Amino acid sequence: MQDNLLTKIKDKKARVGIIGLGYVGLPLAIEVGRVGFEVYGFDISENKVKLINAGKSDIDDVPDAAVKDLVNKGKLKAFTTPENLKKCDTISICVPTPLSKTKDPDVSYILAAVNWVQEQMHKEVLVVLESTTYPGTTEDMILPLLEESGLKVGKDFYLAFSPERVDPGNPKFLTHNTPRVVGGITPKCTKIAKLFYEQFIDNIYAVSSTKAAETVKLLENTFRSVNIGLVNEVALMCDRLGLSVWEIIDAAATKPFGFMPFYPGPGLGGHCIPIDPHYLSWKLKSLNYYARFIELAGDVNSHMPEYVVDRISREMNRHGRSVKGSKIILLGIAYKRDIKDVRESPALDVLKLLENAGAKVVFNDPFVPEIRWNDGKLKSQKLTPALIKGSHMVVILTDHTSYDYKMIVDNAPVVFDTRNATKNVKAKRNKIVLL
Ligand SMILES: NC(=O)c1ccc[n+]([C@@H]2O[C@H](COP(=O)([O-])OP(=O)(O)OC[C@H]3O[C@@H](n4cnc5c(N)ncnc54)[C@H](O)[C@@H]3O)[C@@H](O)[C@H]2O)c1
Repeated sequence: MQDNLLTKIKDKKARVGIIGLGYVGLPLAIEVGRVGFEVYGFDISENKVKLINAGKSDIDDVPDAAVKDLVNKGKLKAFTTPENLKKCDTISICVPTPLSKTKDPDVSYILAAVNWVQEQMHKEVLVVLESTTYPGTTEDMILPLLEESGLKVGKDFYLAFSPERVDPGNPKFLTHNTPRVVGGITPKCTKIAKLFYEQFIDNIYAVSSTKAAETVKLLENTFRSVNIGLVNEVALMCDRLGLSVWEIIDAAATKPFGFMPFYPGPGLGGHCIPIDPHYLSWKLKSLNYYARFIELAGDVNSHMPEYVVDRISREMNRHGRSVKGSKIILLGIAYKRDIKDVRESPALDVLKLLENAGAKVVFNDPFVPEIRWNDGKLKSQKLTPALIKGSHMVVILTDHTSYDYKMIVDNAPVVFDTRNATKNVKAKRNKIVLL
């Protein structure tokens, strides 16, 4: 029976099911479909399913043409209900894992997806969780639910965890050339999961358990959160020392070993770095351990929007103005350069804080035409010299590459640049204030 599944995977005859067709699930569907597998996608969003079946994508890194190609070839079909999971030989779960208001893991999406799998459970299926989660989720929470079917893991079905490492907006590292970590419940589970990913990813690294694989992902994201927290704190120190944090980092980065540059900014955003480390610290709390680095980095990073607003108000003060009543343009509302994702974006916090202080704030983002705001919508304003000239300050929050920074500096009375995006602007530097 196990050989059947192995052969089906090797021959690309296995039908691949993917639950959750977002930033992780849709690129996965494309890669898997591209090498020849038939892919069934499942998502609770009717709009998303309609869009995909019409050959369209709503994910930055997935062009419409890639979806259309697979849909036209009959290799990709999307569904809003789970019945067709029964026909799938592999099932990858790629649903969100947010935090609750009290910063506890919210695994309700995983549970809902696993319920779908449970309803359609059958023999000879490989189930892989890709959603980032706390150590122990796959073995302690998912395994018992799937074994309620009477089927036995490692014999009748296979269960593994493999963390997705997608870096939205990164043109060099995509799903197929980013090495993958895989850990199964049993050695057979690992073997089959490894074989599956080998069909469309260049390098696979197997670890001893699902718990190890879950923890690898949390280490990776905690590493980023802690290092960003460190440079953000160095930025606060440099402010007090009268130094440019950018100059210090650039000089330190000339060291060819033992130093890796991270850069400060207005705070953390996206569905990973601000959230995932708390999955690890939450788990450790249950083991009577306080994860100091995680909590400290979270504290420093989450206060960056307040620091940005403090610097804006100091700068206004220097020009004899108050924040209240000032016209401020925010550039970049997405959390990261050249993408449209506004989840957890610190720009939203800066916007809120400035509005609370009485500023008249507008924003521009070439990737985000509008945002939901105060029970309504706020639209991105066209970035013209006239708009910039009519403001009291321009604040660069996200360094999209399409911005004409020279034009912005030429026309703005003052530019507060939280990303050092204006580093190549030579003229009128006296108007630029760096974070
Ligand atoms: N976005 C990233 O850069 C990234 C990178 C690595 C890992 N991850 C992790 O991958 C997971 C998914 O993140 P994402 O960014 O793709 O999220 P997303 O919000 O972009 O996509 C999730 C999709 O799942 C769907 N969904 C929600 N509940 C469902 C259910 N019960 N059944 C079927 N579909 C359901 C949603 O409609 C949505 O389309 C998270 O755990 C995240 O931490 C994300």
